[in-house]
Amino acid sequence: MQNNTFSGLFVGQNLITLKEVDSTNTFLKDVLSKSTPLLDGTVILAEKQFAGRGQTNNTWISEPGKNLTFSILLNPSFMEVERQFELNKAISLALNDVLSKYAGNDASIKWPNDSYLGNKKVAGMLIENIILGNKIRHAIIGIGLNINQTNFPAHLKNVTSMKLFLQRDYDLMLLLGEICSAVEARYLQLKAASRENDLGYLNKLYLRDEWALFKFDNKIQSGRITGVSEIGRLQLETPDGIRQFDNKEIEF
Ligand code: BTN
Repeated sequence: MQNNTFSGLFVGQNLITLKEVDSTNTFLKDVLSKSTPLLDGTVILAEKQFAGRGQTNNTWISEPGKNLTFSILLNPSFMEVERQFELNKAISLALNDVLSKYAGNDASIKWPNDSYLGNKKVAGMLIENIILGNKIRHAIIGIGLNINQTNFPAHLKNVTSMKLFLQRDYDLMLLLGEICSAVEARYLQLKAASRENDLGYLNKLYLRDEWALFKFDNKIQSGRITGVSEIGRLQLETPDGIRQFDNKEIEF
């Protein structure tokens, strides 16, 4: 389907909107598993997800009609599996490109790939890769961005929306178009083997170079983020020296 909302070359040119689905990531995975051909850059957008999935087996809760919940199909067959964190960086930066347009320097990336406005999470992503040999055949990029929702369940701590943070409503389709263009631009940079995303990611990292409290080794301890390794491990300066962590080993 051709449409005019999306100005890029391929991301979002084929847009499939579903009224209701369990999860756009699961939907896309099911379609691919049936070998149904889908154009690179296809976007599956859900008006309502009733079993949205988040990182580390969490659920993703989003009020229907107020936010964006969608998945983008990319076919990065040029990438070896070991390079998958580069894709995380590219997509995190793309979201940050769009959020920075509205919130300036208040928009940051909380390692590994949460989008923050101020000190709260406004968007999350779940990237699921389908591997062939040692290459990434398909990447299913699931994105949930809180836009016009102003009430969140009490158990969701540290969550915000663009409206809560910036005090105005936003047009969902306009934002979707902007995100698709930004994803395409960052993805093409990645494809061109440019290292621009590496520096950009570090520059936008939430709490980088600031002493703060983290929970690791079952204790709350101070640390300062100094960088992220090539495979995506967080590098933290601690009073006991430099340490590296995987996602589940440390909490902010
Ligand atoms: C996170 O935990 O931060 C990741 C959240 C990802 C949510 C999005 S919403 C669209 C896509 N479909 C899903 O089931 N999850 C992702």
